[in-house]
Amino acid sequence: MNLSRTGKWMSVALPAVAAALLIAGCHGGATKSSGILIGEYGALSGDTATFGTSTDKGVRMAIDEVNSKGGVGGKKVQVKVYDDQGLPPQAKTVVTKLIEQDGAIAVLGEVASTNSMAAAPECQKSKVPMITPASTNVAVTKTGDYIFRTCFIDPFQGGVMASFATKSLHAKTAAVLTDVSQDYSKGLAAAFKNTFTRLGGKIVAEESYEKGAADYHAQLSSIQAAKPDVVFVPGYYNNVGAIGRTARSLGLTVPLLGGDGWDSDKLFEAAQGSLEGCYFSNHYSIENKDPRVQEFVAAYRKQNGGESPDAMAALAYDATKILIAAFDKAGSPADGDYSSEEYRAKLRDAIAATKDFKGVTGDITLGPDRDAIKPAVVLQIHGSERRFVATVNPKDIPL
Ligand code: PHE
Repeated sequence: MNLSRTGKWMSVALPAVAAALLIAGCHGGATKSSGILIGEYGALSGDTATFGTSTDKGVRMAIDEVNSKGGVGGKKVQVKVYDDQGLPPQAKTVVTKLIEQDGAIAVLGEVASTNSMAAAPECQKSKVPMITPASTNVAVTKTGDYIFRTCFIDPFQGGVMASFATKSLHAKTAAVLTDVSQDYSKGLAAAFKNTFTRLGGKIVAEESYEKGAADYHAQLSSIQAAKPDVVFVPGYYNNVGAIGRTARSLGLTVPLLGGDGWDSDKLFEAAQGSLEGCYFSNHYSIENKDPRVQEFVAAYRKQNGGESPDAMAALAYDATKILIAAFDKAGSPADGDYSSEEYRAKLRDAIAATKDFKGVTGDITLGPDRDAIKPAVVLQIHGSERRFVATVNPKDIPL
């Protein structure tokens, strides 16, 4: 599916230009336009569709804001969005299209780390800056110097939940249930185990499943037999609901703990109350009284029929604003050509220099590894609400 909001981007790629680009094999720039074109890719359909749809709402909000104030350097910012259905090969295909066919100057996405990792090499190869708002696996930004993230990384996030399990829940033993088809889940599981054991805890069971699994009885029965104090489930919301229901049906009543992958309203529907009182780490809380957060939440609700922004929406809003700030910092290109390699290098440098950006997900500074250094929150599930429990700072969790 191609959700073009700019319409004309599709129609202006003349065959001759396209052929010339194929021969040159370089960055597109095929579509000369009065605007500045940003590309966006994500799961707008498929198992994890709230990841892409929430991201899109956050991106759109930030772009509407800047355009209503006249845009960047007198030009309107435009976004071209492709649905990758949450599939890595599709992610790679649509990002290649964004670069080579549409001439996107920068790319926003993805959410799931595995998908970001599939597409990032395309951005790196073509020297098109990519900012993932939400992918937390360490490997994502290691692809190269054009790849950034505006969220924290999983060694920290896993440490947050291990430390919470030990210090706040007084857990001495834990089981871990990993989605081995996702880099996110594997990395987060490893980080949790590492910190939990360093803090004196013992991992008593390790089980796994793969994307699309329909049944978790065998894994959860083994976990139950090991009698853990807590079960860490670093999965995505579309699996975690059924995991919660199955755990409770087997009489496994200890707290289940998770990471940001739990964050979707859809989780509550699927879990049917089975995750009541459980905890997960996340990027922000809508309960934060900071006016920056409250203004964002109110504006988002207004724009989206009363729906509250989840973490992806907030992260995407911040990532887009950071990108727009970088356009401002890089300045307008002297020759007016935003798509030149020279301009994209300037834009890259401006993103890399992001310091103390006041985001709704916290103050964002990008380090030398192009990762954001910022706090996490721990949230507890009550009905269909996520209640704020604690903020954890990077300095509290030794990596
Ligand atoms: N951090 C997850 C990943 O890397 C994606 C995610 C972010 C999911 C935020 C939900 C909320 O795959």
